[in-house]
Amino acid sequence: MKILVVGGGGREHAIVKKISENPKVDEIYALPGNGGIEKFAKCVPTAATDIEKIVDFAVSCKVDFAVVTPDDPLIMGCADLLRDKGIAVFGPSKKAARIEGSKSYSKAFMKKYGISTANYEEFTSYEEALDYVKSQNTYPTVIKADGPALGKGVIIAKDEVEADAALRSMMKEKAFGASGEKVVIEEFLEGPEITVLAFCDGENIRPMLSSMDHKKVGDGDVGLNTGGMGVVAPNPFYTKDVETEVYERIMLPTIKGLIKEEAPFKGCIYFGLMLTKQGVKVIEYNCRFGDPEAQTVLPMLRSDLLDIMIATEEGRIDKVHVEFKDGASCCVVIASGGYPKEYIKGYDIDFSELFGNSPKAQEEAGFETDGGVTVFHAGTTVIHENDDSVYRTNGGRVLNVVATADTLEEAIGKAYEAARKIKFKDMFFRNDIGAKAMEEERRKK
Ligand code: AMP
Ligand code: GLY
Repeated sequence: MKILVVGGGGREHAIVKKISENPKVDEIYALPGNGGIEKFAKCVPTAATDIEKIVDFAVSCKVDFAVVTPDDPLIMGCADLLRDKGIAVFGPSKKAARIEGSKSYSKAFMKKYGISTANYEEFTSYEEALDYVKSQNTYPTVIKADGPALGKGVIIAKDEVEADAALRSMMKEKAFGASGEKVVIEEFLEGPEITVLAFCDGENIRPMLSSMDHKKVGDGDVGLNTGGMGVVAPNPFYTKDVETEVYERIMLPTIKGLIKEEAPFKGCIYFGLMLTKQGVKVIEYNCRFGDPEAQTVLPMLRSDLLDIMIATEEGRIDKVHVEFKDGASCCVVIASGGYPKEYIKGYDIDFSELFGNSPKAQEEAGFETDGGVTVFHAGTTVIHENDDSVYRTNGGRVLNVVATADTLEEAIGKAYEAARKIKFKDMFFRNDIGAKAMEEERRKK
């Protein structure tokens, strides 16, 4: 089979690696791919948002199956265009992707189908939005741009001044373009966050291992929101009782609701949940694998990823194995100094302490140690010089160091041991990934 994977981050590195394990696979193309993906796939420099070029490529190379993972191409309708050309796809239609593409749509959807979420109001006028915030006079309050905003469209305002600044920047200064013309203002919820990814084939849903993302840039959950600075899986707050509640009161109504809306969901649906004192509430849906949740959860998948993806498209997800290994997984994100604000790209990455001195050997090792550590490339490029390869930083989140082990404590220890052996200028990572989860594990014992 010829497989096309759209995207070029750590998430796609994890997906491509897993797909390459299927014996039916002859060739993988990654658009655009990255320095780490090159080991498994032919990388083609087409942006993940250039959906017409992606479709042309898929048709001309006669790919058998396409996997579309980033939010933008899905929201733009990349999966529909591919299906129109007769190409089987893993990824939801444009209509189904609206659960991520518009906060206002997803909030109205949850209200309509009785799915528990934060109370909210929506506004298209800055003055009315500000009047509402003033009349509520309850802080913190949560202000969300309706459309996609690179993970930066949610502001938790601690007072009227911050709320006003957020509304002004989104609605008047158009910091996120058309995405901020409408805003959702919602009540602030508190409690541990849980991510659950699930495969859906339109009618059936098969949840994956739960996980816990760490979205804030700094230790102790301080500072700006990021795309995610690290993940542990499974999430100890996701007890059997919580799992049952989520399946019955959130997952099933979501899938059934999407069928009623004539937007059946095929692909991976992301449930961003918060365990509040009033029960589990949905913070957000995403129409795709989380990043870095995928890098953390997929190495724990015992079943074949490509077979599951094909079953998803063919509407028979209830007939395939979706099994996960026992044990735990931890991902530590190594980022460029300055992220999530301004940062410099292009620094050489030194992997020698982890994988040996020869870049060739590093590449051959597939960025994997014998001890169960894999380094997924999120924002890197590779420069081939004579017979060697040089890896350089090319993004805010640069590398995802993922370790699996029998226990969470071991997985965390191994991931940090490996992360400390990697060097590039101004790099940083959070030092407390998994600390909250460990605290909860100890409390449960
Ligand atoms: P979202 O893009 O909707 O997932 O929001 C990003 C992050 O902001 C979430 O992962 C939460 O940490 C936080 N957040 C979003 N909505 C709320 C809320 N209603 N109450 C508290 N925190 C929130
Ligand atoms: N890690 C959060 C996300 O992928 O949206």
